[in-house]
Amino acid sequence: MGSPVLAGPALPLLLLLVLLPPGPARGAARFDPTWKSLDARPLPAWFDKAKFGIFIHWGVYSVPSFGSEWFWWYLREKKIPKYVEFMKNNYPPDFIYEDFGPLFTAKFFDANQWADILQASGAKYVVLTSKHHEGFTLWGSEYAWNWNAVDEGPKRDIVKELEVAVRNRTDLRFGLYYSLFEWFHPLFLEDEVSSFQKRLFPVSKMLPELYKLVNKYQPEVLWSDGDGGAPDTYWNSTGFLAWLYNESPVRDTVVTNDRWGAGSICKHGGYYTCSDRYNPGHLLPHKWENCMTIDKFSWGYRRDAGISDYLTIEDLVKQLVETVSCGGNLLMNIGPTHDGTISPIFEERLRQMGTWLKVNGQAIYKTQTWRSQNDTVTQDVWYTFKPKSKLVYAMFLTWPTSGQLLLGQPRATPGATEVKLLGHGKLLNWTFSKQNGIMVELPHLTVHQMPCKWGWALELTHVA
Ligand SMILES: *[C@@H]1O[C@H](CO)[C@@H](O)[C@H](O)[C@H]1NC(C)=O
Ligand SMILES: *[C@@H]1O[C@H](CO)[C@@H](O)[C@H](O)[C@H]1NC(C)=O
Ligand SMILES: *[C@@H]1O[C@H](CO)[C@@H](O)[C@H](O)[C@H]1NC(C)=O
Ligand SMILES: *[C@@H]1O[C@H](CO)[C@@H](O)[C@H](O)[C@H]1NC(C)=O
Repeated sequence: MGSPVLAGPALPLLLLLVLLPPGPARGAARFDPTWKSLDARPLPAWFDKAKFGIFIHWGVYSVPSFGSEWFWWYLREKKIPKYVEFMKNNYPPDFIYEDFGPLFTAKFFDANQWADILQASGAKYVVLTSKHHEGFTLWGSEYAWNWNAVDEGPKRDIVKELEVAVRNRTDLRFGLYYSLFEWFHPLFLEDEVSSFQKRLFPVSKMLPELYKLVNKYQPEVLWSDGDGGAPDTYWNSTGFLAWLYNESPVRDTVVTNDRWGAGSICKHGGYYTCSDRYNPGHLLPHKWENCMTIDKFSWGYRRDAGISDYLTIEDLVKQLVETVSCGGNLLMNIGPTHDGTISPIFEERLRQMGTWLKVNGQAIYKTQTWRSQNDTVTQDVWYTFKPKSKLVYAMFLTWPTSGQLLLGQPRATPGATEVKLLGHGKLLNWTFSKQNGIMVELPHLTVHQMPCKWGWALELTHVA
């Protein structure tokens, strides 16, 4: 304590500390390759604020564009008659799935155009399938010889083109989906026969490829999928994630999901996805994401889809509102065509979401959950909250024919509570309802005066 003996070395030490550049791990938590440690990592804050992302399923399955992106599996493994017949009727007898590779041309793919459509959707992140279960990589992976977009098909680095366009032209974060397993990779099949005692596939293919992918494209969402029935120890998921969080170029901002091995879903990793199209309708104690697709039956593009197979914009706004009110993010999927176009039906849905969010974004982005997720009296009313400005948003999906909206949950303050319709802006009259809550007088608007058509949001002040 104040000892002159310590005065000597103290000064150089101080200098050294000042002169040292801030190292990667300085001040930041270090994560061990255990679920206990990795699960305790706080999710980077941008993700919860973003609320809305776009999922893109694009690969060789976009060439047959028939049935589902699981085309190869259904054809070769399951031999489902619909797929077998399709091949018999449309291709020569010896034509196999691998022959679709060169036909994946991406002829009209314009990453800038995609980026502009993504921006117009109001989404704050995008997740592209860098590799689906078929194993075809949308970049020139040296571990996917002759089965990648640079060696065959487009002969272009699709991942790079979209990354540059998204980062250069939009405010979206760039994310990548990556399937751990591959249906028919011989090394994976050999490991599977050994009940995953052998680890040939992760050691020589999946792990080196995934490290390369992260270093090269620096995705801020890493959306893992396809554990192939193998445990996380087979994939060395915890070893990889410890590197991702401690050392990787995206260690401070990357978010991941929960699909890191059999049994890890809804339990380990970053945010929870739990199942495809997960939308629990109630609050969860952990950040989650509802990944769903505009085509009700497929993630990849299908030429055999009819108009009724696509969710309407009303359906999609409902998904967004329900999801965000319950603390989730919505990841809404489109499937581009093999030649790289986003079909007008998907483009329209994306742009519609964007116009809705232009009016109602305040009730979505950067919000938190409220004490009540949906109304207890009126159906299809969902709440969000901004604690700092003490604003409560009530999003309603049906415009009441009476012109009056009964909200059973908000406890209003006489003389203080103000109610506005987003996109309209004027103060609305309200009265205490005979039961609980308040009755809001909605404005009388003509069709053309409506700020939007598929769902509306009231902003309430001074409510408890
Ligand atoms: C980024 O966008 C600007 C303006 O649109 C363009 O001039 C520039 O070439 C782009 N950069 C890259 C790397 O694409
Ligand atoms: C798992 O990954 C970590 C980090 O890269 C590495 O140190 C470890 O040796 C790996 N373990 C196995 C069994 O592959
Ligand atoms: C609130 O949402 C839950 C879950 O979707 C639903 O079961 C309940 O009926 C809703 N409440 C009203 C009043 O609609
Ligand atoms: C609110 O109520 C008052 C008194 O009934 C009425 O004069 C006024 O026009 C109403 N305002 C709106 C926006 O409906």
